[in-house]
Amino acid sequence: MLARWRKKIARLPVRGWARPRHQKARQPPGPCENATMLPNIVLIGFMGCGKSSVGRRLAALTGHRFIDSDEMVAQSEGCSIAEIFALGGEEEFRNAEEKVLAGLVGVAGVVLATGGGAILREPNRAAMKSIGAVAWLDADPDSLFERASRSHRRPLLQTKDPRKTFDHLLALRREIYEATADFRVDSTGLGHDQVAQTILDRTMRHRAGSAPGQ
Ligand code: S3P
Repeated sequence: MLARWRKKIARLPVRGWARPRHQKARQPPGPCENATMLPNIVLIGFMGCGKSSVGRRLAALTGHRFIDSDEMVAQSEGCSIAEIFALGGEEEFRNAEEKVLAGLVGVAGVVLATGGGAILREPNRAAMKSIGAVAWLDADPDSLFERASRSHRRPLLQTKDPRKTFDHLLALRREIYEATADFRVDSTGLGHDQVAQTILDRTMRHRAGSAPGQ
C-alpha cells in the first residue's frame, strides 16, 4: 500500500524525511565479530524513556552495533514515521514494524532500540525474546511525559490532550512491558551513562542466571 504513496511522497519537500534521498539506505545489520561474549540487548519501554540515547551509549560500552527499529522502518518505507502514520495510519506502521523485527531474528552483536508500541503485537514480543536479553527502560510518568513531549514528531501524542493520551497508553502497556522484559531498569533521575552501565550489569547477571546448568 505504501508503495503507491512513494510517488506522491517523492514530491514532498525534503525536510522531515528520514533520510535525504541522495543517501544510500544503510545495509541491514549483519553478524558482528565480538558478539560471542555478550548477548544482544533489546530495549523496550514507553516513549520518552531514552531507548535511543541509552542504546547508543550501551553500544559504545559493549562494542555492539546500535540499531533503532523506528529508523529501520523509516528506511524500509522511504518516509518518516510521522508520514507513515499520516498516510497509512497506525496499522500500516505496525505492519512495517513487525516486518523489521522479524527480519532481525538471528542477528548478532547488536543493541536494538524498539518503538514504544512494538510490544503490542505477539510476534514482535516473540522476536524480541529470540533476539536477546530484553531490558525494560522505565521512569516515573512525569519524567517520561516531559521527555516524550519535547519532540513534536510522535504521532500518537498529537491529540487535544496529550497528557491524557499518554496516561491512557501507559496504563494499557505497563503490564505488557513487564511480561515481555527479562528485567526492568528505572532511569528516574539517572544520566544516560549510568542507565547504560546498569543495563549492561543486569544483562550480565541475567545471562549468568539463564545459562544452562546454573
Ligand atoms: C510509538 C513510539 C515511537 C514510534 C511510533 C509509535 C508508540 O517510538 O515507534 O511513533 O506506539 O509508542 P519511541 O518509543 O521511540 O518514541
